[in-house]
Amino acid sequence: MDCEPVLLAHVGRPDSHTLSGYEAAGGYTTLRQTLRDATPQKIVDVVKESALRGRGGAGFPCGLKWTFLPQNHPGPIYMCINADESEPGTFNNRILMEEDPHQVLEGTILSCYATRASTAYIYLRYEYPQCLKRLQAAIDACYDAGYLGKNILGSDYSLEVTIHRGAAAYICGEETGLIESLEGKRAWPRIKPPFPAVEGLFRKPTVVNNVETVACVRHIVQRGAAWFKSIGVPPDPDNPRDIGSFGPKLYCLSGHVERPGCYEAPLGISCRELIERFGGGVWKGRRAKAAIPGGISMGLLTAAELDVPLDFVGPVKAGCLGLGTAAVVVLDETVRMVDFLHNSCRFFKHESCGQCTPCREGTDWALQMLERIRAGRGRLIDLDLLLEIGDSIGIMPGTTICGLADGAAWPIKNAIRKFRDEFEHTIRATNPHGYMATDPVPALEMHALQH
Ligand SMILES: Cc1cc2nc3c(=O)[nH]c(=O)nc-3n(C[C@H](O)[C@H](O)[C@H](O)COP(=O)(O)O)c2cc1C
Ligand code: SF4
Repeated sequence: MDCEPVLLAHVGRPDSHTLSGYEAAGGYTTLRQTLRDATPQKIVDVVKESALRGRGGAGFPCGLKWTFLPQNHPGPIYMCINADESEPGTFNNRILMEEDPHQVLEGTILSCYATRASTAYIYLRYEYPQCLKRLQAAIDACYDAGYLGKNILGSDYSLEVTIHRGAAAYICGEETGLIESLEGKRAWPRIKPPFPAVEGLFRKPTVVNNVETVACVRHIVQRGAAWFKSIGVPPDPDNPRDIGSFGPKLYCLSGHVERPGCYEAPLGISCRELIERFGGGVWKGRRAKAAIPGGISMGLLTAAELDVPLDFVGPVKAGCLGLGTAAVVVLDETVRMVDFLHNSCRFFKHESCGQCTPCREGTDWALQMLERIRAGRGRLIDLDLLLEIGDSIGIMPGTTICGLADGAAWPIKNAIRKFRDEFEHTIRATNPHGYMATDPVPALEMHALQH
């Protein structure tokens, strides 16, 4: 599956990050034409028509989200560009911001024009100093050239863009956590509704969009909805709610592959093709045991499931949470699934903000059980307890405020259901005398004594 590079077209050119390099490649002509000829509504319509789905993880239709903003709102409308990029294995936003920051900015300005936003905040992951440098230089150059500020290019549209550095926590990427953080508070996600489009930053209507989403907007406005829909996968006939998975996508490939990297391909490329053709196959001549399809919170594919298309429905059909950020991490045959799951649980326990009891307690107990299994004290019943936690925390069962808990649950559910034999073998091999299910558990007793 191939498509002409669009999002990465200029990456690798020495001047790809400069204004002169971007303008020489036709940059900002779309913005100029839009401000001259198109109404904001026309941009909303073309983005809706393109069926662009957000690239930040949830895959929500971008144009539809924009229509949730109140009509004729008198006060300010804010745009937050989510550049927190904290999903493990994900680095496509970084490549865009470092290598082609003007593409991101032109998409941002067009998106702000469409939504009538007067201020955009780029919420940037703290650990991205090169992005900060390049983006700030690009913003400064835009102000000097009249692409930002008052009366952009002589039009009656004005926009201010500010970078806000994040505080290096996963939860800052959740859109309402991000908004709280921007307001100077702890990034505790808000209960929804109200959704940000109605009451967001500083309680004003707000749109939160991912960096890659607005980069796509730039190309949709330039080339049209039909072009965008000529790439990717049409709606799934078995799923009346699916609007298709259209457009080019940046896939991050890492883990045990020969050539890790950020690759552009049409939505719907199979995981196997991505690994084999772009990644040069599993490293060291080994076989794949599993792959994370879209960031760790999406769960796991087994080696036998690698032919699933990486579109918005393919991973779901294989029991995963979704496509997520399309960050594929390959695990080779030497990886112990207990170690994989321990690592995952450690991450989510550390990142849970602690507001919701199922998430705060569930991630903690899951980690304790994995630690016990790794220490040779595991019991077979622990696997069922872990599944009980996995099945009962998250937005999907309706027990938490945000999706972090679902992200913690899916690796647990997938790893144990898909690799149960291996978990059982590990427990039997490391705890040969076997605690009975009813025996007191040393780790839990110690925990109780400490409190
Ligand atoms: C725990 C958690 C972390 C998230 N982290 C990010 C992130 O780093 N970047 C991002 O764009 N979206 C992230 N999201 C999704 C955002 O809440 C939101 O859906 C997204 O920014 C919307 O942009 P889009 O519609 O353009 O995809 C996260 C969601 C959750 C639940
Ligand atoms: S689900 Fe977890 S991370 Fe999200 S708000 Fe609740 S406790 Fe915080």
